[in-house]
Amino acid sequence: MNELDALVVTAQDEFTRAQTPADLENAKALFLGKTGKVTEWMKGLASLPVEEKKTRGAAINQAKQMVEAALAARRQALADAELEAQLKSEALDVTLPGRRVPAGGLHPVSLTLERIESIFGSMGFEVAQGPEIETDWFNFTALNTPEDHPARSMHDTFYVKGGTDAAPLLLRTHTSPMQIRHAVQHVKRHRASLDAGRGMPEIRVIAPGRTYRVDSDATHSPMFHQCEGLWIGEAVSFKDLKVVFTDFCRTFFESEDLVLRFRPSFFPFTEPSAEVDIQFQSGPLSGRWLEVAGSGQVHPNVVRNMGLDPEKYIGFAFGMGPDRLTMLRYGVNDLRLFFDGDLRFLSQFQ
Ligand code: DAH
Repeated sequence: MNELDALVVTAQDEFTRAQTPADLENAKALFLGKTGKVTEWMKGLASLPVEEKKTRGAAINQAKQMVEAALAARRQALADAELEAQLKSEALDVTLPGRRVPAGGLHPVSLTLERIESIFGSMGFEVAQGPEIETDWFNFTALNTPEDHPARSMHDTFYVKGGTDAAPLLLRTHTSPMQIRHAVQHVKRHRASLDAGRGMPEIRVIAPGRTYRVDSDATHSPMFHQCEGLWIGEAVSFKDLKVVFTDFCRTFFESEDLVLRFRPSFFPFTEPSAEVDIQFQSGPLSGRWLEVAGSGQVHPNVVRNMGLDPEKYIGFAFGMGPDRLTMLRYGVNDLRLFFDGDLRFLSQFQ
């Protein structure tokens, strides 16, 4: 190998060894810089005779071109490698699952309330809402509940500050006060028609909401839900209650052969009164009587407190427990699970 070939090989080796563009520029200086080896060779030409200058010059030029080509190739290789590394470090795996916003869901009792509202809605019942802090009048007195009734005792009821001796305030112990509140509004709206002897449209309403009692165990919570129902007209009977409530229970539980039993009972605001029990004919609860509501024909005193003539207007009311309906529907055996706010439990109902 002549000296020029050796020089080219050395340059190629040096360039290959350069791992960064800066290394490569240093290596370039060794050969092509002002004092580089190729440059030195060029300078050496000056002292040669003309003939030799020609051949020698051509050979050096060729060597120079090869060094330059090697330099360009290495530059390209380093640039390619750099780009490659950058692409790798910024790599995006489009097959990874995206980040989701976790989806929320309705509380199981809310699902039940929606269900109750839609079923009764389909039977022509409107939905009314009322205050959770009630007066003694709406919660007890207007509902024909005597002064000495045990439900009025401090042990059973959360009385709150702000009332007067004549009109104590309390957390409503049931949704029944909504019977009076709603009926009074209804009667007020139709006062003129009533006074003119033209009557009024029937009252058909449900009133779901929170209720409160001093009570706490696996099947009782100090805060719980009720849904009141009221149907008042000129010819509404206990038979209508039976049909409506049977229809409701069968639709709610999606069980056509569900059986209902109206067991005689007592409530101050209804006469006669009945407790409603249901019985599934299949499934884990089949054969057992399960209590789901209180009901009855609205007491004449209550009809009177609604502003109506009990000789003319008659109807029925019921009060059911949506929490209990939810437990039965989903097979939950501890009421407190609904109100602990544990997502491991609640997320199962989405
Ligand atoms: N308010 C009653 C309770 O909380 C339930 C009830 C019974 C409501 C009979 C009614 C009814 O409307 O007619 O125990």
